[in-house]
Amino acid sequence: MPGALSLALQYISYYVRAWNKHNVHSPFVFKLTTEVIHPDKKLAAFIPIEQQRKLLKQNADKILFTELGAGNKSNQRSVSNIAAKSLKSPRYARLLYRLTNHFQPENIIELGTSLGITTGYLALSGCKNIYTIDGNKTVSDIAKATLTSVKLSSNVKFINGNFDESLPATLNTLNKVDFVFFDGNHRYQPTLNYFQQCLTKAHDKSVFVFDDINYSHEMKKAWKEIKQHPSVVVSIDLFMMGIVFFDTDLLRQHFVIRY
Ligand SMILES: C[S@@+](CC[C@H](N)C(=O)[O-])C[C@H]1O[C@@H](n2cnc3c(N)ncnc32)[C@H](O)[C@@H]1O
Repeated sequence: MPGALSLALQYISYYVRAWNKHNVHSPFVFKLTTEVIHPDKKLAAFIPIEQQRKLLKQNADKILFTELGAGNKSNQRSVSNIAAKSLKSPRYARLLYRLTNHFQPENIIELGTSLGITTGYLALSGCKNIYTIDGNKTVSDIAKATLTSVKLSSNVKFINGNFDESLPATLNTLNKVDFVFFDGNHRYQPTLNYFQQCLTKAHDKSVFVFDDINYSHEMKKAWKEIKQHPSVVVSIDLFMMGIVFFDTDLLRQHFVIRY
């Protein structure tokens, strides 16, 4: 994982390279940037989820946490530590809400439920099926209780298991996947494996979002390969997240956009 200084320098480099909406010449990306990516509104519907985040941040309970991905390896973590360190910030959770609300995917897969806060934003978009997977049963259970308490669990299927087995098993039950949020096991080979597995159920209008594309050398390498994959037509690099589209009606282009 890069240090704070290295990450700050990378961010400055991204910011200098990134385009603002005025020099985006793809009508699809221009519209997406001006209508979905940038207009950040705090809706009243987000308040109950953020109240849950606040409660989780105050919860000092220690839980057994077996790290299956690329991060912290310790076995005991407090819920408050997970809530403070492992979840998407409200700003990026709102972006995921706007993306899913805009595209209205029928089947969403989230790799990495954790405490379910981002899942709540995905659930708010009213999509039919959200399959959220996590290898840690305790966090999955907390996520389920959290979303049930704010009445956001009816369209969510909580799946407990390692992505290596649970993702192919989940994909096997679906005829298509419309939106995937890759937010766990941030390593090169697993990320590429999960991407390739999800591709088998992707279609022209599917949208894949990768978190932490600058988290490490491995993730940078994975992102570089993903955006160059022959099936990817448009990619958008927002520094913290990368989004890919497969629509063959679009021109093949890669964008770095300020966010
Ligand atoms: C960054 S957190 C997810 C945060 C969540 N999406 C949010 O923003 O609220 C990553 C989660 O992925 C899970 N995870 C990592 N590697 C995994 C694997 N190989 N199989 C299953 N779960 C895994 C971890 O247990 C952790 O809860």
